[in-house]
Amino acid sequence: MDFKPSDSQLTEMISEARLQARIKEMAREISADFKGEKLLVIAVLKGAFLFVADLVREMDIDPEIDFLRATSYGSQTVTSGAVEIRKDVEVPVTGRAVLLVEDIIDTGLTLKFLLRHLKAAEPKVLKICSLLDKPSRRQVEVKGDYVGFTIEDKFVVGYGLDFDERYRNLRSICVLAPG
Ligand code: IMP
Ligand code: MG
Repeated sequence: MDFKPSDSQLTEMISEARLQARIKEMAREISADFKGEKLLVIAVLKGAFLFVADLVREMDIDPEIDFLRATSYGSQTVTSGAVEIRKDVEVPVTGRAVLLVEDIIDTGLTLKFLLRHLKAAEPKVLKICSLLDKPSRRQVEVKGDYVGFTIEDKFVVGYGLDFDERYRNLRSICVLAPG
């Protein structure tokens, strides 16, 4: 779905062109860093589904791809910190070079939980790749190794990110006006 300027609730923050250009750069950097490795890319559903699809298609290595799904309880815009694995990784992680792909790091609570979960399986390397980062909202200390865009404290939707399961199919990242 294309961004519609007539939709007064949405303001474009990162255009499709900027997203795609940055994703190309990230894929190039990741490909160089993991050259010669059998990289396992683990994308966090649902928010990272479009990002990971574009990211792996820009890589010039041949990664294995898997998914996990985590749900955090809380309101529609704020994470409570209670995170649960709804769907776990299906391939063994032990001894592998793993790249965890997230849509956004906000409070960091989801990521902290997922890192603990994956580290328990003793991967050889575990790196974090997130399209977006809102460092001003951090409650726990976690950091992305590859971050697409650092953004201010605004609730954003589009390109995989939702509000109440809406707007995931927007081609750009948009700010959703409150109200
Ligand atoms: P955290 O646990 O607070 O870091 O939040 C992680 C999850 O909350 C993300 O993976 C998103 O699914 C969701 N989230 C956080 N901020 C936003 C936002 O601005 N828009 C849409 N979803 C968000
Ligand atoms: Mg969500």
